Amino acid sequence: MSPHDLDALFEPLALGSLRLPNRLVMAPLTRNRVGEDGVPTSMVADYYAQRATAGLIIAEATQICPEGQGYGLTPGIHTPEQIAGWRKVTDAVHQRGGRIFLQLWHVGRVSNTLIQPRGKAPVAPSAIRAEARTWIAGEFLPTSQPVALDIDAIPAIVEAHAQGARNALAAGFDGVELHGANGYLIDQFLRDGSNQRTDAYGGSITNRVRFMCEVVDAVTRAVGSGKVGIRLSPVTPSNGAFDSDPVPLFYHAVESLNPFNLAYLHVIEGETRGDRNYNGAVDYAKLRRSFRGAYMANNGYTRELAAERISAGYADLVSFGRSFLANPDLAERFRQGLDLNLPENATFYGGDRRGYTDYPFAAGAAAPA
Ligand SMILES: Cc1cc2nc3c(=O)[nH]c(=O)nc-3n(C[C@H](O)[C@H](O)[C@H](O)COP(=O)(O)O)c2cc1C
Repeated sequence: MSPHDLDALFEPLALGSLRLPNRLVMAPLTRNRVGEDGVPTSMVADYYAQRATAGLIIAEATQICPEGQGYGLTPGIHTPEQIAGWRKVTDAVHQRGGRIFLQLWHVGRVSNTLIQPRGKAPVAPSAIRAEARTWIAGEFLPTSQPVALDIDAIPAIVEAHAQGARNALAAGFDGVELHGANGYLIDQFLRDGSNQRTDAYGGSITNRVRFMCEVVDAVTRAVGSGKVGIRLSPVTPSNGAFDSDPVPLFYHAVESLNPFNLAYLHVIEGETRGDRNYNGAVDYAKLRRSFRGAYMANNGYTRELAAERISAGYADLVSFGRSFLANPDLAERFRQGLDLNLPENATFYGGDRRGYTDYPFAAGAAAPA
């Protein structure tokens, strides 16, 4: 890596109406630390404010409606109390000079009756149980058998995404990211392992991409295309996600996003949190070239790889999950070439400030207020 490559990480970038001061994005990270009512607390505000020197923060996956929840103690964006809770977070980040999007989430079948309204079965494109576990009340439990969504019920879920986006803006977010990755509802519609519908939403690739496009259409109409990004994970097996032929599916999916002029496409390359080269059939450089907006790369990136890829024009932005989790001042550490704190897996999900707001800043880097 040449010093010139490193400079590329700190070149500003216009994203919609925002000006990002650097190319380092905090990836969305579920931390299961809000109240039972899905309301972010002042502890959540502190955590994000500590990370405000990121070029952009993408706040953790947040359910757009009660049925969209699959894990315990995750935040929502569908009640006035949740909007007010998030307002404290966005204010704290903005006061520190940062920028923050919210990741909008419907888990679909990756849920459990224990956490669904009135103990009902989770909804999904088809009645196929996910080979996955979700974190509920301190332990990982298998997912429940879902019911296939009635076609008449789909417009309300599309609209819930649009309302979630409006609510996010009302809470002070600078934009939203649609969670189309990791085997959740949008991804369940995309892939034939979870979508075996015989109506307009299943079967051909065009039909399987329909739900995603309807959501993108509704959300961009609600808040404006410059405030919307989407996250995809073409080959990840996370949460039981599977497709028999992901290459043509995801090239088509990305091309069908172009008419919406999204702010960015966020791609988890390979297996989420695992092998970056998992199922090497997808050519991410080609995927990136077929998308008209900014490309945000993710998964197992280091400072060196990010600098190389950005200066080579392969990506516009790189997001970091575990490195931002453990290093609130990641941007400054990268700039100075300092050592990184290591993330502590045991405190990823649930708990208190330990492993959340107590990761130390490097000596000499901007200290928390
Ligand atoms: C604790 C934890 C929680 C995560 N929660 C989310 C999430 O809410 N939404 C999402 O899209 N990805 C989530 N991910 C995946 C990360 O955003 C990211 O894709 C992954 O950690 C790989 O990037 P990294 O190698 O930089 O950590 C999570 C990862 C971790 C470690």
